[in-house]
Amino acid sequence: MKNRCSRLALVLLLNATIFAADANADAAAAPAAGGTHSRLSFVTTQDGSPLLISSKLFNTKQARKFLHTGKNPYLGNQAAIDQGKKIFELWSCTACHGGNAQGQIGPSLHGPNFHYPKDATDKGMFETIWHGTNGGMGAKGIGLMDPTDASNGLTPDDVLKVISWVRSLGANP
Ligand code: HEC
Repeated sequence: MKNRCSRLALVLLLNATIFAADANADAAAAPAAGGTHSRLSFVTTQDGSPLLISSKLFNTKQARKFLHTGKNPYLGNQAAIDQGKKIFELWSCTACHGGNAQGQIGPSLHGPNFHYPKDATDKGMFETIWHGTNGGMGAKGIGLMDPTDASNGLTPDDVLKVISWVRSLGANP
């Protein structure tokens, strides 16, 4: 009897915990204002752990499309590609990757082979740029930037433009 009671208590406790975890997951996965679609779940390039990026930061139509579909709407868009090159220079990506991302201290970004194979996908490269790596690539390229601070450094829209430029350089899909 005693055993049964404590079992019941354990089950109740577990349920409560699962319920709370669900509520948290919902809050984290809340769709962008007005949207009802599900959104991408990002993971860090360091160890694949969950990478939470507020939907609010995806504040352009194109960034929201990416958040919900994983597709980068700027691919092949010449105006966005030109802006992406400027953003790459502005945030000193050039200092380590070279003016044409051909590689310098950091590796070439031309592909089709990447150090992190997932960088062949736009979601993967987005995660690498947003949160950095263990091997010398800081969050958003510069370790001083706090990736959780919306007002600091590259926006998701900027990152997508940088990726569209990088993809225009190499033999990537
Ligand atoms: C301080 C030097 C430095 C800066 C600045 C820097 N990077 Fe890097 N980056 C590196 C290094 C080193 C690596 C390789 C990291 C590793 O192997 O873990 C890397 C890796 C990468 C990769 C992964 C490449 C692959 O083969 O998988 C991408 C994408 C990337 N950087 C993009 C950027 C962008 C975009 C910026 C600017 C916002 C930037 N980096 C700024 C040093 C830098």
